[in-house]
Amino acid sequence: MGVDLSYGMLAAARTDAPLVQADVLRLPVPDQRADGATCGFALRNLADLGLFFDELARVVRPGGRIGLLEVARPRNPVMRWGHGIYFGRVVPKIGALLSDGAAYRYLPQSVAYLPEPPALVAMLRAAGFADAERHELNGGISQLLLATRDR
Ligand SMILES: C[S@@+](CC[C@H](N)C(=O)[O-])C[C@H]1O[C@@H](n2cnc3c(N)ncnc32)[C@H](O)[C@@H]1O
Repeated sequence: MGVDLSYGMLAAARTDAPLVQADVLRLPVPDQRADGATCGFALRNLADLGLFFDELARVVRPGGRIGLLEVARPRNPVMRWGHGIYFGRVVPKIGALLSDGAAYRYLPQSVAYLPEPPALVAMLRAAGFADAERHELNGGISQLLLATRDR
């Protein structure tokens, strides 16, 4: 099943999976019922990331897997500088031309809400995903958090 707060996002989804308009901080799923969970580019939008990780730990069965994809800032100083200009200035301008300008101004700002990588992994481990690990993708402009629910 797919979950999003926004009806518009669900209506645009191309999937046969059942879709539910709900808050991922209070998933409409019984304890340990899910074999796994994925999340694409929503972590930095959540009001309480720790609560989301706790909620994942509640619904995913022991041994179940999670994969959380999110934007990131590259560690390499040159990449970080170039990415800052592209993501902070170019993307909002292109977004404003093609779509909702406010949404694309919020995009770079929202990255500031993400904890630093070690803190992010530590939060997942504390929530009940002891083997949590973080992978950098695309030269560090995105990140993938992978973990198994503790048995
Ligand atoms: C950048 S979009 C990513 C959408 C989609 N996952 C994708 O990868 O194309 C972030 C999504 O998170 C949703 N979202 C934000 N906070 C949420 C919450 N508390 N519960 C459920 N969805 C939420 C937003 O409605 C938005 O659709």
